[in-house]
Amino acid sequence: MITEEKVLEALKDVEDPEIHRSVVELGMVRNIKINDTKVELDIILTIQGCPLKVKIQEDVENAIRSLGAEQVTVHFGSMTDEERARVSAIIRSGNPNQAQSAGVQGHGAGLNAISPILGPESNTVFIAVTSGKGGVGKSTVTVNLAASLARLGKKVGVIDADIYGFSVPDMMGITQRPVVVDNTIMPVQRLGVKVISMGFFVEDNSPIIWRGPMLGKMLRNFFSEVHWGQLDYMILDLPPGTGDVALDVHQMIPHSKEIIVTTPHPTAAFVAARAGAMALKTNHEILGVVENMSYYVNKTGEKDPIFGSGGGEKLAEQLNSELLAQIPLGQPEPMRDEERYAPSVYRENETIGNVYMELARTVDKKCKVHL
Ligand SMILES: Nc1ncnc2c1ncn2[C@@H]1O[C@H](COP(=O)(O)OP(=O)(O)O)[C@@H](O)[C@H]1O
Ligand SMILES: [Mg+2]
Repeated sequence: MITEEKVLEALKDVEDPEIHRSVVELGMVRNIKINDTKVELDIILTIQGCPLKVKIQEDVENAIRSLGAEQVTVHFGSMTDEERARVSAIIRSGNPNQAQSAGVQGHGAGLNAISPILGPESNTVFIAVTSGKGGVGKSTVTVNLAASLARLGKKVGVIDADIYGFSVPDMMGITQRPVVVDNTIMPVQRLGVKVISMGFFVEDNSPIIWRGPMLGKMLRNFFSEVHWGQLDYMILDLPPGTGDVALDVHQMIPHSKEIIVTTPHPTAAFVAARAGAMALKTNHEILGVVENMSYYVNKTGEKDPIFGSGGGEKLAEQLNSELLAQIPLGQPEPMRDEERYAPSVYRENETIGNVYMELARTVDKKCKVHL
């Protein structure tokens, strides 16, 4: 016989796809009515018009059908502001580090207190991806390194800190916006990576006109207002050069490591050296150099260094660091599965995808993160 207890028990395994907590725990289940093998219930969504409503409905139905129900009817409602505030409290309290570091005050602890992943208890490895100039593939390296680390089973977040020139959502094929529960922003998950970008908060690709202080605030918000949960890696796609945002990152995340991206052309490497010099000046550990667009494999299978050669190697030497990877020219093969289409992410089993998997392994080894 199906009982209310059994229904609730079964629904404990159904998670809200954005918040990753059980719908029962979040108080989303109401009004269960059972009539023999017919079950009717209300699911109260955290936001109206939740984009993942269909998924929740499917999961709820399947869970209840597994109890032997033949007919499951789900009515949807949405939470009041008060209820949302409670959910927000549940999300935040769920991370033991959060409550602790939020309590840390004084001693300039303000920065560390804004997010548990910046706090002293956090094991998250921060990697800022920088370059001397734009167009060398910084964002491409960011999204592919992130996706590859996720394929290795790591918990990965990406902050698209290129506030004016954000491109990560597009490159990863993200079409949805983050869900905001009360004052907590849930990062969008894509290819196993949690992503936050200015692009999510801009209407119609309109230009952003902000001054320096506002930029710093935005970056802070990406930590303080976003529920990241536990992460092994947080990759930051920085704007090119050594401007305000780069400085903010240096200050906010003094323990951040850095990857410097360059093309093989000596001039590019020369410009990239400035980003490297800044990392050294601020005591950021340089993980190494990634040389992108290193060569083109021509029809006869030979490597053609059309953008010159040696830049990555030389830069690594200059910075007393190592060349982590040389990534050839080439576009990702279009993904067949429409749902998983991400224009700039190479698949694991294609040539360049392989190079990125190797880069992820190298980075992981260097950071000594073993789960
Ligand atoms: N290895 C590569 N082969 C071919 N095109 C690439 C490669 N790396 C990057 N690109 C392309 O070059 C352009 C600039 O890359 P992007 O990652 O946006 O650079 P950045 O973030 O440094 O400005 C993009 O259109 C990207 O798709
Ligand atoms: Mg970019």
